Amino acid sequence: MAILTGSNKIRTAVFISGNGSNLKSLIKFTKKKKSPISIELIISNNLKAKGLKYGKIFKIKKKVFNFENIKFTENKLISILEKNEIKIICLAGFMRILSKSFIKKFKGKILNIHPSLLPKYKGLNTHKRVLNNNEKYSGCTVHFVNSKLDSGKIILQKKVKILKNETEETLAKKVLIEEHRLYPKAILKIFNL
Ligand code: GRF
Repeated sequence: MAILTGSNKIRTAVFISGNGSNLKSLIKFTKKKKSPISIELIISNNLKAKGLKYGKIFKIKKKVFNFENIKFTENKLISILEKNEIKIICLAGFMRILSKSFIKKFKGKILNIHPSLLPKYKGLNTHKRVLNNNEKYSGCTVHFVNSKLDSGKIILQKKVKILKNETEETLAKKVLIEEHRLYPKAILKIFNL
């Protein structure tokens, strides 16, 4: 595939709820020539999400929805995504479950990053559960989103070794560093780059 430039890049939205460190790493990636995507929109369900600051810093449009009425919110969201010609959605620490109909509408276009070696440890509190089970390895996964939680087709995974005195905090930190590398790689992979 030829390298995509400027306006040829695939218009992408990133959905966040918290710190947005994966958002930041994706933004950094989009500054590289080899990136097939450009981030045009940041969506959050949380007005206080720290990651929203990257909208201001990197001059990316951002929108916050409270998701109280999911149908109403998703309809608004769909119209904003369409208006901005968004073709790919990257979930990055987004803590709301999207409806089946929303996921169907963007089938094969929504990616997520999860801090475990899926299919193991779907859902929340992954690091705690991994340590409680005395696992030797953990890691992170980028996958396509389908209607079942953390269950869509896996794109890429990265393993990390669990050390003797590992704590939830040290493991989370170690996995997060790998997440920042893995998400851009997974995007290159889905575009055969
Ligand atoms: C990451 O560990 C991600 O895998 C999980 O939530 C965390 C988000 O971190 N889904 P950040 O907001 O990208 O810093």
